[in-house]
Amino acid sequence: MIDYSGKRGVVFGIANQRSIATAVAQQLHALGAELALTFGPDTKGRFEQNVRELADTMNVSHVLPADVQEDGAIEAVFAALQKDWGGLDFVLHSIAYADRGDLEVPFSHTSRDGWRVAQEVSAYSLIRITRCAADLMRNNGGGSIVGMTFIGSALAVPHYNVMGPAKAALESAVRYLARELGPDNIRCNALSAGALRTLSSSGIRNFGEMLKTAGEHAALSRNVTVAEVAKTAAFLLSDVSSGITGQSIYVDGGFNIMAN
Ligand SMILES: NC(=O)c1ccc[n+]([C@@H]2O[C@H](COP(=O)([O-])OP(=O)(O)OC[C@H]3O[C@@H](n4cnc5c(N)ncnc54)[C@H](O)[C@@H]3O)[C@@H](O)[C@H]2O)c1
Repeated sequence: MIDYSGKRGVVFGIANQRSIATAVAQQLHALGAELALTFGPDTKGRFEQNVRELADTMNVSHVLPADVQEDGAIEAVFAALQKDWGGLDFVLHSIAYADRGDLEVPFSHTSRDGWRVAQEVSAYSLIRITRCAADLMRNNGGGSIVGMTFIGSALAVPHYNVMGPAKAALESAVRYLARELGPDNIRCNALSAGALRTLSSSGIRNFGEMLKTAGEHAALSRNVTVAEVAKTAAFLLSDVSSGITGQSIYVDGGFNIMAN
C-alpha cells in the first residue's frame, strides 16, 4: 500500500548502523524513495563516513553536513535541495543531544547551558528544519515531517533528566507546526519509540535496566525492534497517513498504556 515511487525526502540523524534514522532510511529506500542524507558533528569524522557508506547502498542523491547548532547549516541543506529537486515530500528529524554531565546530575542540578543545548539541538532544530522544508513542500502540494520522541516527555523516567523537557518541547512544537502548516497540506507528527540500543541511548545511565523494564512492562511483554519503528515512520511520512497530523504516535509495544 505504501509506495514512495517518485517521492523525495531528507533524513537527519544517521550516526551509525544502529541509528533509528538508518533503519528508517533503509525502509524508505526499499519502498522506492529518493533520499538526501545528512550527518551531524563528529570530531573523528566517523558519522560522515558511515553516512557515505550507507548512501552507496541506496538511491541517495545528496550527502550533506548539517550541524543544527551551526548558523546557516540547515538552510544550506534545503538550498541544495531547492536547487536540485525544486520540491520535497518528506523529512525525518531523528536528532537529539544532551551533554553527558547534564544527564548524570540530579535533575534539579541541570545547568542553564545544558538545558539550552538539549532544547536547541533536540527541539528547536525541528522548528528550523520545518520552516525550511515547508517552502519546498508547498511546491509539491504538501508533505510530511516526523520527529522522534520518547515517553520521558510525559513520565519522569529514571536518568532521562534534561532530555525529558526537551522531548516535551518537541511534541508541543509538533502540534503548533501541524496547526500552522495544515492548510498547506503539510503534516507534522512525533513518533514515540520504545527503548532501543543506539549511540544516544548508551549515554543514559542504567539504560540496560530501562530496556529490561520496558520489555517486562509493555502490553506486548517485549521490547520493540528498530524495524517496527522504521515501518511506522515510513507510514507517517507517506500519503497513506494523510489524515494524521499533530500526533505523538507510540511504537513501544504498548508500554505507555500500562498502569504498572
Ligand atoms: N534509542 C532510543 O531508545 C530512543 C527512543 C525514543 C526516541 N529516540 C530518539 O530517536 C532519535 C535518534 O536517536 P538514536 O537512538 O537513533 O541515536 P543516534 O545517536 O544514532 O542518533 C542521534 C543523532 O543525533 C545527531 N545529532 C546530535 N547532535 C546534533 C547536531 N548538533 N546537529 C545535527 N545532528 C546532531 C547525531 O549525529 C545522531 O545522528 C533521537 O531524537 C532520540 O531521542 C531514541
